[in-house]
Amino acid sequence: MNYRVIFLVGAIFLTLSFCTTKKKDKNGLSLTSPEDIVNIHFYLDQNGQPGYKTTFKKNVMIDSSSLGLVLSGEYSLDKGFEVLNSTETSFDETWEQPWGEERFIRNNYKELTVNLENEAGLKLDIVLRAYDNGVAFRYVFPEQEQLKEFEVMDELTEFRMADDHLAWWIPAYSGNRYEQLYTKSGLSEMEKVHTPLTIETKRGFYISIHEAALTDFSSMVIENRGDNVLKCDLVPFSTTDPVKSYVTAPFHTPWRTIIVGEKPGELITNYVNLNLNEPNKLDDISWIKPGKYIGVWWEMFINVGTWAQGPKHAANTGNVKKYIDFAAENGFDGVLVEGWNYGWDGDWMGGGTTFDFTKPYPDYDVEELSRYAKEKGVYIIGHHETGADIVNYENQLEDAYQFLEDHGMRAVKTGYVEHGDTLPNGYYHHGQYFVRHFEKVIETAATHKVMIVAHEPIKDTGKRRTFPNMVSREGAKGQEYNAMGGNSADHVTIIPFTRSLSGPFDYTPGVFDVKLKTMPNDQVKTTLVRELALYVVIYAPMQMACDLPENYEGHPAFEFIRQVPTDWETTRVLEGEIGEYVTIARQERDTDNWFIGAITNENPRTASISFNFLEPEKTYKATIYKNSPDTDMINNPTGYEIDEMEITTDSRIELQLASAGGAAIAVYPVE
Ligand code: NOJ
Repeated sequence: MNYRVIFLVGAIFLTLSFCTTKKKDKNGLSLTSPEDIVNIHFYLDQNGQPGYKTTFKKNVMIDSSSLGLVLSGEYSLDKGFEVLNSTETSFDETWEQPWGEERFIRNNYKELTVNLENEAGLKLDIVLRAYDNGVAFRYVFPEQEQLKEFEVMDELTEFRMADDHLAWWIPAYSGNRYEQLYTKSGLSEMEKVHTPLTIETKRGFYISIHEAALTDFSSMVIENRGDNVLKCDLVPFSTTDPVKSYVTAPFHTPWRTIIVGEKPGELITNYVNLNLNEPNKLDDISWIKPGKYIGVWWEMFINVGTWAQGPKHAANTGNVKKYIDFAAENGFDGVLVEGWNYGWDGDWMGGGTTFDFTKPYPDYDVEELSRYAKEKGVYIIGHHETGADIVNYENQLEDAYQFLEDHGMRAVKTGYVEHGDTLPNGYYHHGQYFVRHFEKVIETAATHKVMIVAHEPIKDTGKRRTFPNMVSREGAKGQEYNAMGGNSADHVTIIPFTRSLSGPFDYTPGVFDVKLKTMPNDQVKTTLVRELALYVVIYAPMQMACDLPENYEGHPAFEFIRQVPTDWETTRVLEGEIGEYVTIARQERDTDNWFIGAITNENPRTASISFNFLEPEKTYKATIYKNSPDTDMINNPTGYEIDEMEITTDSRIELQLASAGGAAIAVYPVE
């Protein structure tokens, strides 16, 4: 049977659901995943405090760990509980992503709802789900007389590890938000870290702790409490307000999630966090389209242009027209323009200046440029740098998005640069205040049919399922750091197994002038071919080609960027070790074309690629972009060769990757 027919059959709604009331025995309640691979056990300890334990293939994934919450005032939801009732249900459906790295996603789990009541008569439900590749749980506050509006002061959720496993982490509360290089260490060396937190267990399997569907609640940081005990640490509301979240019941917290796989690559193709989000809430989404963009952007980072007014002001009508021409000639959908509006003159970071989101600089003719872009079949991507002054942004929000709509700007890049980890008014960048703001922006954008690519965002927790206009975000060290001191060569080999587990990442690949001729003391620790491979390796529905148009001119390798799609039918991780190397193959949506990206860290190595994912009895033409034999991250980062060959499902090729090297392959069926 044709693979597409199989997909379609699978896509037909398959929902099985049963509901039984479970009797609690003295040891608690157990829930096993549909194929009995993952188990989650719920219990009350001798003080009536809830707890849980989970296993993966009978191995301890999370050992006995406490649950509960501390509220302000006299109320507490941490002990003295009794189980009133419990119910088990199951669910199985396959849903279609409007765009994404995987078109059809199966959502198959068993769910246990435990209704608790404590000595004070307060009710709390805990809902737990067991998937074959992960577990999740959340707290539900039912409507009740005694608990209407309240303040969460602490969440007691623990993740007790069986050992001092190895972890890849970035620190929380240390400035620069999520923009940090990853540390690889034992759990015992962490303090407070962000999620997703990726862990290699001593049993050899891999887990990632994160949260899903973060809505109107503070975000979760993981605190190392010693003795392998990790605990949820909710980000406070502000530097002067220790409340973690203000809640009105009925309410439920975000899901606490632990995904699992035997190989690190299985974490990449795990969609549990997306499944835990609500289905699409927008009526018409036909206007939401993945694509590729270039922009008046990198030139500011490499000292060619400026955001602020002056002799080098980059967002001027003539310069933007050149970008529009280049985009139109090369099939790009959008042109990002930064520095187009009032607010950049002065110390704009952290609310130092006031941005105006409807007032262009005098040398930026917005009417003419909108007309010109439309005539050329591309759109301008708006830019809303807020300097983290959310009050100023919210005051202009409706007008700002109306302005984008009026000028045919179908996407906007937002930005929230501040100094440190708090917004200018003392609110935490990752607290409930910012989470609420972020949601408001997504919803406002949707009413104006605008897609969002957010920088300095709240971390991704799968919201794109509910709001498909929330297409991409930063939330990690991206390419721009290569013009600000530089990322280590292994950074992009860690990202797919850590940051990217949360969702699309606007890394902005595509530097061809790796040696940065305008910055003689810097160079990007990469090779030109690895930049190509990143279009496949780092998933983003809106991918930028970040370099200056002139740096692409005359380069045959640019053809790969022109061709590579950003919307996929399916994704396969062919091989990979965290921080070492990874090879990913993705099939273009609605076609039989495949694109493969292989990358390595500072160590050269051989990538061995088997094409057994191709359809049998078909012949394909592969165009292979590879490092030349003398390519080297330092001495010759831009050397490459392009080979063409016929391949079938039985083909296997070996490619030499240089230090910080890579390979990119485009595969088309031979008609
Ligand atoms: C930081 C963003 O990450 C970057 O892409 C942007 O150009 C600057 N802020 C200015 O908004």
